[in-house]
Amino acid sequence: MREEYGKLNKVEMSIWECCELLNDVIDESDPDLDEPQIEHLLQSAEAIRKDYPNEDWLHLTALIHDLGKVLLLPSFGELPQWAVVGDIFPVGCAFDASIVHHKYFALNPDYNNPAYNTKYGMYSEGCGLENVLMSFGHDDYMYLIAKENNTTLPSAALFIIRYHSFSALHTAGAYKYLMNEEDKENLKWLHIFNKYDLYSKSKERIDVEKVKPYYLSLIEKANFNPFLLFR
Ligand SMILES: [Fe+2]
Ligand SMILES: [Fe+2]
Repeated sequence: MREEYGKLNKVEMSIWECCELLNDVIDESDPDLDEPQIEHLLQSAEAIRKDYPNEDWLHLTALIHDLGKVLLLPSFGELPQWAVVGDIFPVGCAFDASIVHHKYFALNPDYNNPAYNTKYGMYSEGCGLENVLMSFGHDDYMYLIAKENNTTLPSAALFIIRYHSFSALHTAGAYKYLMNEEDKENLKWLHIFNKYDLYSKSKERIDVEKVKPYYLSLIEKANFNPFLLFR
């Protein structure tokens, strides 16, 4: 999946077009289904902007963190929900009990494979999350896009995009022993970001056209212009 979707050679579109496209997406794992996705993106971004006015990279990160959900749309292969949204987790080491629906891992062959079912499995202490193979989802897809576009977003932004659905780590505190020093620094930002994502969505309506120029300027600054490559 990662190899196939990592090619990013099918569609070109701007980040903003993609935000608008996301309105057609329904994420069944999202508890706030009543809101259009673009509102969620802008509400998170605007709320962070209010509290962290100088961290403009964080405003942009909030805007784009869920864009990988376009994989649910017919024009992007219409992947099933399980392949795009919901928790992500490391493979190649024991599945932590804090992962949602953990009991079903008993049906996974890795569960009984001694090479993959120990605390470290195929990894080592402090090896760094970038060396850990994660289950695929919208986090990883958007991370690949950001990388491919040579974005100038800082490492903390890429970390947030890549691991915001890794709740075993950021909510339950599991797998911390796989992190290196950079991951630990970045995790602090992910914790901040999380306060503005998901359940704490503000219900304040956003005037999309009013804030659009600000975000377009951030997109350009982060080197996402003119186009974003998608599969
Ligand atoms: Fe997400
Ligand atoms: Fe989100």
